[in-house]
Amino acid sequence: MKIDIKLNGQRKSFEVDPSEKVLDFLRRIGLKGVKKGCSTGDCGSCAIILDGKIVNSCMLFVGQIDGHTIETIEGLGTIEEPHPIQKAFVEEGAVQCGFCIPGMILAAKALLDKKPTPSITDIRTALSGNLCRCTGYVKIEKAVLKAAKMMRKK
Ligand code: FES
Ligand code: FES
Repeated sequence: MKIDIKLNGQRKSFEVDPSEKVLDFLRRIGLKGVKKGCSTGDCGSCAIILDGKIVNSCMLFVGQIDGHTIETIEGLGTIEEPHPIQKAFVEEGAVQCGFCIPGMILAAKALLDKKPTPSITDIRTALSGNLCRCTGYVKIEKAVLKAAKMMRKK
């Protein structure tokens, strides 16, 4: 089938097998920031933003995203011009091996887009579906708080 989606701000069309997982589809078209962890909806490393909400792309079929808006980590910032959340993660030393980080940053973005002044509980709840095997949670929470402050100033 043909799908039309808004992907990282650009309207795109693809010929797809509707039963392919969105995770595999995004990686196949080169968006390797979408990480394959458990493939069973448990780790959040494959998280994307779908119509403003964080979802695990390993739990979705491509046929389900026709007509929808998708954001992946590739749509946020660049090395030269990182998004404030990316900047805050670096400044707070919140990145260890990095595998969980795209999902963490997208979960943080989905939260901060809706709630610019989150409490620590809001942050913990928003990131509760994202597992970090390096267990850097304290620094990750600090980074999201810092990013919120940076984004409010902008
Ligand atoms: S790979 Fe999708 S939740 Fe783990
Ligand atoms: S930084 Fe290694 S899994 Fe989170």
